[in-house]
Amino acid sequence: MSNSLPIGVFDSGLGGLTVVKALKDLMPNENIIYFGDTAHIPYGTKSTETVTHYSKQITGFLSDKNVKLIVVACNTASALALPAIKQTFDIPMIGVIEPGAEAAVHATKSGVIGVIGTISTISSGAYSSRIRNLNSNLITSGQACPLFVPLAEEGWTTGDVPRMIAETYLNYFNSNNVDTVILGCTHYPLLKKTIQSVLNPGVQLIDSSEAVSEAVAKLLHDKDNEANREKDGTLTCYVTDMPQKFEELGRRFLGEALLDVSLVHLDW
Ligand code: DGL
Repeated sequence: MSNSLPIGVFDSGLGGLTVVKALKDLMPNENIIYFGDTAHIPYGTKSTETVTHYSKQITGFLSDKNVKLIVVACNTASALALPAIKQTFDIPMIGVIEPGAEAAVHATKSGVIGVIGTISTISSGAYSSRIRNLNSNLITSGQACPLFVPLAEEGWTTGDVPRMIAETYLNYFNSNNVDTVILGCTHYPLLKKTIQSVLNPGVQLIDSSEAVSEAVAKLLHDKDNEANREKDGTLTCYVTDMPQKFEELGRRFLGEALLDVSLVHLDW
């Protein structure tokens, strides 16, 4: 497989751009094709069947673009659909659950790990079962935080309202010896400061986007498949609805302007 081929990344919408940012920081020479399924967001309240169907369609689209690797930059799709899409497509794929779980297992000292994510991710138990497979002595505590997604989309990430919501969701962790919390949703890194401020001092936040980008770098290195160009890689984005809104809000997630965004219609 040619190492000049792009990396494919997909998410239900904008949130996966936090993963793109981490990939670009670590591997600035890689070309990236990003797919945001903005017509179907949120995935976090949908069934396994629906999320798997959307994820397969998107994987087919990225595979037609000849990507060398696919990053499922959506916790919900990673939790509900990754095993099924891995069986259907013959492309290397990495989801966010495994790298995030591994990082948390290494980080915890108290042995109690908090996991926050969408309703579907938390009820799938994907993080907890991966953590228990790695170390059956660890205890996990899951908390769905559905209001964090619209807060991040609105750019409402600090101040009284986000703090009170975060306190309500996360208070339980403070009285239950949780010393490590996995940000198990692509939107949550934008609320890092607020989340950190309501947790006991010293609690470590695990940002899945950083963990997954390290896993991608390692995989490409092991396969001797890294881009070997000197110049910066490109970022091409496809969305299924509202490309202008994606461009406007995307800057917040990526930390820079999105220059190449196209609307695409898949045969859902
Ligand atoms: N991208 C989703 C995730 O990481 C959050 C947004 C959604 O519900 O689709 O779980």
